[in-house]
Amino acid sequence: METLIPTINRLQEVFLTVGADIIQLPQIVVVGSQSSGKSSVLESLVGRDFLPRGSGIVTRRPLVLQLINVSPLKERLKVENGNVVKQNSKNSYPGVKAEEWGTFIHCKSQIFTDFQEICQEIVAETERSLGDNKGISPEPIYLKIFSPNVLNLTLVDLPGITKVPVGDQPEDIETQVQEMILSFISNPNSLILAVSPANSDLATSDALKLAREVDPDGRRTLLVVSKLDLMDAGTDALEVLLGRVIPVRLGIIGVVNRSQHDINTQKSLEDSMKDEQTFLQRHYPSLASRAGSRYLAKTLSKLLMHHIRDCLPELKTRVTVLSAQYQARLNGYGQPVEDHSATLLQIVTKFASDYCNTIEGTARHIQTTELC
Ligand code: GDP
Ligand code: NA
Ligand code: MG
Repeated sequence: METLIPTINRLQEVFLTVGADIIQLPQIVVVGSQSSGKSSVLESLVGRDFLPRGSGIVTRRPLVLQLINVSPLKERLKVENGNVVKQNSKNSYPGVKAEEWGTFIHCKSQIFTDFQEICQEIVAETERSLGDNKGISPEPIYLKIFSPNVLNLTLVDLPGITKVPVGDQPEDIETQVQEMILSFISNPNSLILAVSPANSDLATSDALKLAREVDPDGRRTLLVVSKLDLMDAGTDALEVLLGRVIPVRLGIIGVVNRSQHDINTQKSLEDSMKDEQTFLQRHYPSLASRAGSRYLAKTLSKLLMHHIRDCLPELKTRVTVLSAQYQARLNGYGQPVEDHSATLLQIVTKFASDYCNTIEGTARHIQTTELC
C-alpha cells in the first residue's frame, strides 16, 4: 500500500513540471486559529524541527511540504572494490551524505542538510516577499523533505485564522485568511486537520467551523485537540476527546506539543514525544493508546490510504483521457522527436500508462486486503 503514495507524489511532480494542474492530489492541510499549534503539529508529524513556530502570526504564507521517504543511508551505500560508493537510487542526491535533507522550489539547486537552515530559509523567503511586518500572502512556499523517517505525505501549513489586523495586515485580514484556507480545503482531495486548543471552547472552534463549510458530512476532517497540558486546573478534555461534545466522524486526537518555553530551551522532539506519552498515561489512561502525536501520524496515513482508494476510479478515468490526449498530440509531432516539449509529453504519456497499471494493481490489492 505504501508504494501508492510515492506514485502519487511522482505524478504530481510530472504535472507540475509540465505546468498542468489537472489532477487534484490528496494532501493534508492544517487549519486553525492563530497559535492553536498547527505548525507544531506538522512538525511532530515530520519528526524534525524545521518550522518557524511561536506566539503571534509566524506562518504568513502557505507552506506546501512534500515528505519523501528514502531508504536509510547505509542501504543507499554499497561496497565496490573495497570502496563505499553510493547506490544509484532514484531518490538519492549526488553528494548528499546526510540521512535527511530538504530542497525548496524557489532555490532548487541548494540542498539543505541542516534543518535549522531550512527553518531560516522559510523565514527569509517569507520576508523577501512580504517584509517583516506581519503581512500575509496566498503564494505558497514549496519545500521537499527527504528522509528515511517520514511517511510519504504532502502537508500544507497555513496562516492561522485571525480577526484583528496588526502590522502590515489589511483591514480585511480575517476574510483574506479565510479565503486562503478555503482555497486549500475546498479541494475535495484534501484531508483537513482541524487544530483546536483544549483550553478554548470547542463550540467556538474556527477550525471546525471552516472545515464544516467545505466538508459538512465530516468525511475528510480530523480534529486535533492541542494544548491538553494547558487546561485550567480541575478541567480535562475527556468528554471532548470521546466525541461527546462535538462528534467528528474521522476521529478526535489529543496532543501535547512543545510549549514556548520548550522551544526557547530547545527541548528535543524526542523528549517532547516521551513527555507527551507520560502526560497521556497519567491524565488520560483510558485513551493513551488512541492519543498523541505518533497515533496521529498513524491515523493520518491510514486515512490517506482510504482516501486514495476512494479516488482511484476517478483518477484512472482522468489519467486515461489525458494520456489519450497527449498521445494524439505526440503523434502530431511526427517521428524524430528533438523538441523539448515533445520529450516532456512522452514522459507524461509513458508515466500515465505506468500509472494506470499501478492503479489497477492497487485496486486489486485493496480488494484483497481488509481495511479497517
Ligand atoms: P500556529 O500559529 O497554529 O502554527 O501555532 P504554533 O505551532 O506556532 O504554536 C503557537 C505557540 O503555542 C507556540 O509558542 C507553541 O510552543 C505553543 N504550543 C503549541 N501547541 C502546544 C501544546 O500542545 N502545549 C503547549 N504548552 N504549548 C503549545
Ligand atoms: Na503562531
Ligand atoms: Mg504556524
